[in-house]
Amino acid sequence: MEKKRIGVLISGRGSNMSSLIEACKSPEYPAEISVVISNRPKAAGLENAAREGIRALTINHRKYDNRTAFETDLHQALVDAQVELICNAGFLRLLTAEFVDKWHDRQLNIHPSLLPSFKGLHTHQRVLDAGVKVTGCTVHLVRTDMDAGPIIAQAAVAVEHDDDEQSLAARVLAAEHQLYPHALKMFAMGDAYVNNEKIEIHAKMDQASLSQQHAIFSPRLGKA
Ligand code: GRF
Repeated sequence: MEKKRIGVLISGRGSNMSSLIEACKSPEYPAEISVVISNRPKAAGLENAAREGIRALTINHRKYDNRTAFETDLHQALVDAQVELICNAGFLRLLTAEFVDKWHDRQLNIHPSLLPSFKGLHTHQRVLDAGVKVTGCTVHLVRTDMDAGPIIAQAAVAVEHDDDEQSLAARVLAAEHQLYPHALKMFAMGDAYVNNEKIEIHAKMDQASLSQQHAIFSPRLGKA
């Protein structure tokens, strides 16, 4: 099977990157990670990627005078690694329209809320402040507007009455680690594809993948 070449962009811990690395170890998985790039030299994820034998680079945005110069090098590093799809995984730089357009329909992101609700940072505290009872995570294609773009897959997580920011973040993160490999697999295989700025799912998709597509993660209640 021809595997899609993935470039993962990180800024920190890289636990979502690690879940993608694990998924890619399976011979049946339709993607492989060609390069991991961090904009921060101290990102913990860099060491973890290198330990797994994956090429891990830093392109430090602070060393550039402007966004365009940073993005020129970022783009070149991805091209050099023959990357076909980018996965943002906790990548904390806003990208210009020029970069986003170059990777149109070829750049995925994971966000820790059920988009289009709770875009931006500090999602879990805002979820608690709003008093919503269900939150979750979203994998979507990147567009110029932040945390917008066609939604590939979502997982729902129940908000418990005694949750604080940390406990909620931990349960959403556990759901993220399942959702991102699933969403990337569907997209890489062409089972999820863009039509009219929405993601459509191929009818031929197997039942197990379909039920994962609508998974509800709520560890205290059991996985639905
Ligand atoms: C995740 O919650 C992700 O949804 C958000 O940033 C966090 C990154 O965590 N975009 P990690 O670096 O993958 O551990």
